[in-house]
Amino acid sequence: MDFKQKIRVVQDFPKEGIRFKDITTLMKDGEAYKLAISNIADLVTGLDVDVIVGPEARGFVIGAPLAIHLGKGFVPVRKSGKLPGEIVESAYDLEYGKDTLAIHKDAIEPGQKVLIADDLLATGGTIATTIDLIEKLGGIVVGCVFLIELTYLDGRDKINGDYPVHSLVKY
Ligand code: PRP
Repeated sequence: MDFKQKIRVVQDFPKEGIRFKDITTLMKDGEAYKLAISNIADLVTGLDVDVIVGPEARGFVIGAPLAIHLGKGFVPVRKSGKLPGEIVESAYDLEYGKDTLAIHKDAIEPGQKVLIADDLLATGGTIATTIDLIEKLGGIVVGCVFLIELTYLDGRDKINGDYPVHSLVKY
């Protein structure tokens, strides 16, 4: 399937010069959504994973179905002020803006093998912060998977670990 045909590109959203990749048009198509999750799972075949972590909000719509597909648990990384338990948090820059991400302290056991899933790798700020949070808890990142990678923003350069980084659709 040509997933690019299913992803709507919106010019100048949320601000001028950004060509926003809108995955809602892919997600509302049940066949395309299911196949995308299945193909993302294929990208990590053979990887030894204990748990999937996905950042709010669009990381949830990739990470949670991927976790179910792989028979693993799902841990949310959330924006500031959303998680009720004890947290660790970290501030970061976005492609357009600034934010703080947090994870529950007891969400990951030291030594657990973590696969990170998100809809988009852009500047890499979100993934770098998510990796930082996981490693603060003693988790071992074993890979990162994305539905979309904006290769021209070089987000991969912010991922320094010795593990695979895969994306299904590249722009
Ligand atoms: C988007 C996207 C990724 C991140 C990628 O999330 O879902 O998580 O930006 O950008 P980066 O590589 O430059 O960090 P956003 O923070 O817009 O939040 P949302 O998922 O809640 O819409």
